[in-house]
Amino acid sequence: MRSTYARTDALLYRIRAAGSLLGVTDNTLRTYADGAGIEVKRASDITPGAPSIRVFEPETLFKLAAWRRSQGYIKSPNPGSGPVVIAVDVVKGGTGKTTTAVELALHLQLMGLKTLLIDLDSQANATQMLGYEPDLTIDEADGYEVTPDAIVVDTFMTLMTAFIQQGGHNTEFRLTSPLVSAENVIKKPYGESGPHLIPADTNLGDLESAIANGKGSRELYVREYIAAATAGKIPGFDAKSYDVIIFDCPPTVSFISSTAIAASDFIVAPIRLDAFAVKGLTRLMGEIKTIAHYYKVQPELVILPTHYAPQIARIGRMQTQLAQFRDLLTPGVISASEEFPKSLDQYIPLSLQKPTSNPTREYRMFAEHMFAKILAFTNSKARK
Ligand SMILES: Nc1ncnc2c1ncn2[C@@H]1O[C@H](COP(=O)(O)OP(=O)(O)OP(=O)(O)O)[C@@H](O)[C@H]1O
Ligand SMILES: [Mg+2]
Repeated sequence: MRSTYARTDALLYRIRAAGSLLGVTDNTLRTYADGAGIEVKRASDITPGAPSIRVFEPETLFKLAAWRRSQGYIKSPNPGSGPVVIAVDVVKGGTGKTTTAVELALHLQLMGLKTLLIDLDSQANATQMLGYEPDLTIDEADGYEVTPDAIVVDTFMTLMTAFIQQGGHNTEFRLTSPLVSAENVIKKPYGESGPHLIPADTNLGDLESAIANGKGSRELYVREYIAAATAGKIPGFDAKSYDVIIFDCPPTVSFISSTAIAASDFIVAPIRLDAFAVKGLTRLMGEIKTIAHYYKVQPELVILPTHYAPQIARIGRMQTQLAQFRDLLTPGVISASEEFPKSLDQYIPLSLQKPTSNPTREYRMFAEHMFAKILAFTNSKARK
């Protein structure tokens, strides 16, 4: 029985691939594996007659990443400084938002940051990419040889509607009756040490009306929910235990997206580098400006060019359009690659399917860029 719908048991990395996901050499990885006292399998344990070389499962890599942080081998934010919140958002479909949200969560986790991804799109693509089939029901679980853990029952909608109904968004919020425990909602597709997920399914659409029918500063609901979870007021959801919370937003203008923007310290906008690159970006910037004005929040916009193809990127019109955003652009890009759509069938993110591929390297570099921003942000918060 598997605990996700994905066949992650087929994922086994040799030392080179494992080292490249952790960003270390073969030798360093060997030292880690010995030092951490974490059991690493041998190929011969799995296939009799195979050489006795070490093979790493994704769960083992995430454990090693957590161990490396615990040893102080890499930089990390102060524990307990509260999560840095990132919304992956742009008002345009199919730009690579979900791919970016999932890849960012994975790579930050491999860099030692405890990451929670919240799927805010009722299409539930991020949920699927992390190994869950939201259409699968509890009755069907046995037939697919998955445990009840693999089934999406509750979503962010369950948590937020309970919060809104109980007046949690009021500053006077004191828990009167227990909310639905978030513990059962949070999924751990790659184990405790991997990135965590609050999944989505089609019911998430109801959250839109729950917010629309709410009272007061509706755009601040999610911000207040995260603040309550950081203050330990939400049963089963200790937001303080996460370094980063990432929202995967839907492509439309909606209350759901606005509440995520208002809750965020950073907005990552993946834009497709085609002739209409900046469509949706101007809309997003307008949205951020309005929210910043009314609610005194100041998220930083980071623009990530995706679907990059050198021959298309030379189009003059696009160059001119992009020039105005130069300061907000990431130093690297994500190239166009057919590997991305192909990877979707497996319910496993591309980086975990192809650790040494070019797309994986590009997303790793993007995550390094965000990692530096996250550290700088938490340091400046600590000084205030
Ligand atoms: N760099 C890339 N090169 C080629 N294809 C990509 C790239 N990034 C993502 N894709 C593919 O493009 C499609 C849309 O990607 P994704 O779901 O990440 O976008 P999205 O912005 O979240 O879409 P939506 O607006 O529907 O939520 C998927 O099939 C994905 O595999
Ligand atoms: Mg998406």
